[in-house]
Amino acid sequence: MAQNNSYDHLAVHRWMLRDTVRNEAYRQAIFRVVKPGDVVLDVGAGTGILSIFAAQAGARRVFAVERSAIAEVAKRIIRTNGFENVIEVVAGDLEDVSLPEKVDVIVSEWMGGLGVDENMFAPVVMARGRYLKPGGKMIPARVTALVAPAYVDEMDEGLAYWRSRPHGIDLSDISTLTANESHMLQSDVRPEDLVAPAQPLWSHDASEITLEETDAGYGAKLHFTAERDGRIAALATWFVADMGGGISLTNAPDQPPTHWGRLLLPLDRTLEVKRGMPVDVTVNCLPAGPSKSEFEWDVQVGDTLDRHSTYRQRPSE
Ligand SMILES: C[S@@+](CC[C@H](N)C(=O)[O-])C[C@H]1O[C@@H](n2cnc3c(N)ncnc32)[C@H](O)[C@@H]1O
Repeated sequence: MAQNNSYDHLAVHRWMLRDTVRNEAYRQAIFRVVKPGDVVLDVGAGTGILSIFAAQAGARRVFAVERSAIAEVAKRIIRTNGFENVIEVVAGDLEDVSLPEKVDVIVSEWMGGLGVDENMFAPVVMARGRYLKPGGKMIPARVTALVAPAYVDEMDEGLAYWRSRPHGIDLSDISTLTANESHMLQSDVRPEDLVAPAQPLWSHDASEITLEETDAGYGAKLHFTAERDGRIAALATWFVADMGGGISLTNAPDQPPTHWGRLLLPLDRTLEVKRGMPVDVTVNCLPAGPSKSEFEWDVQVGDTLDRHSTYRQRPSE
């Protein structure tokens, strides 16, 4: 049954479909991994673009499973492109549908700002257990999230205003609420905004991870050393996906922009650092129900511990 969420609407799909970096990485990986005659499952097919790539690559049959109302648009686009005899749109939640045969390849676009935070990974792993043939392939194959302490002017200046007691009124609640808004997802982060080189936060192999592990949440404690004198106002995060077939996809700051932007986890206040100072970082991501996640993070510089925060993201609402 279609869920009442933003994936019902064309706007979010237009946004993803205009991301040529994303689309090209999927297209190239699908063309390298899918072999003529393969059966393919597209988990969360949206408008059907990944299913069409699979059909173009020579798949014999493609199951395009989509639970939102956009499934009707997928049917139209698939027909317009002449693939209605290859691609079967299965309208429904992956958990509720039943497919008539096993598949050689599962493709899905399940990545969020922290690699895994849209809670779409669990259905993909469930699909693997139910439908993937032994030796079958997953696209993407592995996704690694990275994090680095950062100072991003635009974000810090915006928050500083709300902390400055404008008109003598304490509006720090606005700063806290603003810091936790999802627009932080599309932040522009440049390589020079990073105070220390990024480190892997967590990494997930789509063929190996168990369903219990995807449900359990993820956490990491990392130790950085400031590379230069500067300030830290946030943790900048992004991901690198090994798509398979030697293709990778990333929203890293030094790479061409994607619709993901970068996820920033802001601090309550700006911390001064000197080159060589230790910066200790803890980040936890706790799946908190369908299509939402709860993040906790803290940053310690020297003896100063800044904030144990919670951030809720609801990409589908
Ligand atoms: C990030 S979008 C990707 C859409 C499309 N594959 C693309 O690449 O443009 C994820 C899609 O998965 C769908 N979805 C999420 N969880 C699902 C589930 N458990 N079963 C079926 N569809 C799901 C959403 O409705 C949404 O359309």
